[in-house]
Amino acid sequence: MSGNIIPLKIAGVGYCLPETVITNDDLTKLYETSDEWIYTRTGIKERRVVSGNETAIDLGYKASLNAIQHSGIKAENIDCIIGAASAPPQLYPTLACLMQQKLGITKKIPAFDLTAACTGLIYALQVARGFIGTGIYKTILIVAADNNSKITDWTDRGTSILFGDGAGAMVVTASDDGDNDILSLDISADGSIGQLIQTNMPGECCPLVKQADTIGNGKIIMDGKEVYKFAVTTVPKYVEHCIELSGMKAEDIDYLIPHQANQRIIESIQNKLKYSDEKVISNIKYYGNTSAASIPIALTEGVEQGKIKLPSTAVLCGFGAGMTWGGAVVRLREGIC
Ligand code: UT7
Repeated sequence: MSGNIIPLKIAGVGYCLPETVITNDDLTKLYETSDEWIYTRTGIKERRVVSGNETAIDLGYKASLNAIQHSGIKAENIDCIIGAASAPPQLYPTLACLMQQKLGITKKIPAFDLTAACTGLIYALQVARGFIGTGIYKTILIVAADNNSKITDWTDRGTSILFGDGAGAMVVTASDDGDNDILSLDISADGSIGQLIQTNMPGECCPLVKQADTIGNGKIIMDGKEVYKFAVTTVPKYVEHCIELSGMKAEDIDYLIPHQANQRIIESIQNKLKYSDEKVISNIKYYGNTSAASIPIALTEGVEQGKIKLPSTAVLCGFGAGMTWGGAVVRLREGIC
């Protein structure tokens, strides 16, 4: 889509992380591994996980509250909620409907989830851009929340080292000053390589018919090597493409805020753009891969920690199961968090 009729403003961003920390050393209690192996291959030292009754719904609610507060917009003025979890704890009610209920939004507004795995935030932003750009809705809450720890196979040392839990949220609205905060935005997918990352839900056929040969267990199955190859060959070039679409030059953009999947993948994008470390926002060391939440977490925390100065511009990029990928060049205004 090109040429919004109504420009979009990123009004507020927020995040929430669970408190429990699992370090690489902790994982040595589960299988043979080491902090050195994990850190050198992924850049991850620790990740956060939910515990007890806590789920991604709680994290999503707190991230949403945080983003709404930063936006200065009242919850009752939200016109639409889009949930963008990779694997929400409940398929229905959807994450978005649960947010509507928890936020106490009694107005009857649309609330729905879309699934684009770790690219969910960018996909949701594209949908929101369409709605706002055409005047269908004015203000939209996007919430990405995942408790990956509940769908991780904790006996598989190739995947369980990577993932963490967390939530991020973004409030977007029709721009009141004519400036569009989306300078470019593109999303894409290649279902022909979808087998690289799968989560197959359990489920048996009707007892009166032949059963399937295999039944899913709801856990992440991943061909890590192939995902890695896909990411370092496709994503850096694609980020350049998104920058080109914005009409800007890489050197004129202040920050790269990538999906936090693997530090080496982040560095492959950084090298392509020839960015110094200061321009690249990475927190994978502390949180691992939090799926669709990773970009808004990195963005909000980056501002809080003073790594991202406002106002500024940033290129966002996500990629993940599907395979899906997406990127955006955005303007970050003062006061978004
Ligand atoms: O949102 C997208 C999400 N996914 C990703 O971003 C995944 C991208 N891929 C990766 O980050 C990497 O493929 C991993 C970090 C997951 C794995 O690194 P790798 O260099 O591709 O390792 P590998 O799976 O090829 O395994 C190499 C060796 C194997 O041993 P052998 O067969 O060579 O003897 C594994 O058994 O390392 C072994 N290994 C481990 N050793 C210690 C696998 N996992 C571990 C571990 N600790 N945790």
